[in-house]
Amino acid sequence: MRVPKPDGRLPPPVLALLLQITAVAVAAFAQYVAARAGHALSLLSFAFLCGAIAALLSHLLKMDTWWLPIQFVFVPALVATLSLSLSPTVFLVAFLIMLAVYWSTFRTQVPLYLSSNKVWQALETRLPAGQPFAFVDLGSGIGGVLTHLAQTHPLGRYHGVESAPLPFLWSWLRIKFGRHAQCTVRWGSLWDCDLSQYDVVFAYLSPVPMEALWNKARQEMRPGTLFISNTFAVPEHPPQESIAVEDLHNSTLYLWRM
Ligand SMILES: C[S@@+](CC[C@H](N)C(=O)[O-])C[C@H]1O[C@@H](n2cnc3c(N)ncnc32)[C@H](O)[C@@H]1O
Repeated sequence: MRVPKPDGRLPPPVLALLLQITAVAVAAFAQYVAARAGHALSLLSFAFLCGAIAALLSHLLKMDTWWLPIQFVFVPALVATLSLSLSPTVFLVAFLIMLAVYWSTFRTQVPLYLSSNKVWQALETRLPAGQPFAFVDLGSGIGGVLTHLAQTHPLGRYHGVESAPLPFLWSWLRIKFGRHAQCTVRWGSLWDCDLSQYDVVFAYLSPVPMEALWNKARQEMRPGTLFISNTFAVPEHPPQESIAVEDLHNSTLYLWRM
């Protein structure tokens, strides 16, 4: 199965960037008018004006609300960082690290954030007891889910697939040096993963791929096997069970028996 096609809208990061450019152009025009009237803005005021315009445009174009503070602080943060006169190498290294961690986030709209210990414990309660089974974490991050469950349920085989290079490398080292013989992790896309091999499929992704992932799960998973999503439900397919987890994010596990 291929990665789901975009719905024709601009990807949010591209839209955010275009709005920033528009905001700078509008603010520059305002600065030109203000300067002619003898009231030129300071650099910081100009930066905050850019931020306010970018946030307003983002709101008007119905971007998700969490984009608004990002849009507001982007130019002020840029100005503040440039004023520190840091070496360009610092920016290059920071960029390469971000690239290795967030790699395909631009395309997948699924960033790296980690399930809590309490989610791991809730997962434990739904694993098959006293018998061998196969578990997959789709987008396995740094491997915490796999290595934790391998310790509490050693009869399982745990597989992870992760597309971002640095989290993949981290999880690979974690598995190798932690001697978690029942765990394996692969660098690749979850869309190339054959779900028919697993008794339990776990995903903690984002709202964006859930519908396509549900279709894939329905096509490939065997009857009686378990599909679990952390936090993100499937539109129009209510789960058979949900588990509220009392962690920092008030996570919810959604469970479907295929
Ligand atoms: C929210 S994190 C969850 C990490 C881990 N499963 C956990 O619960 O702690 C989602 C992960 O999925 C990865 N990811 C996103 N899209 C992917 C894809 N198409 N194939 C493989 N991994 C993907 C991201 O790089 C990120 O590390």
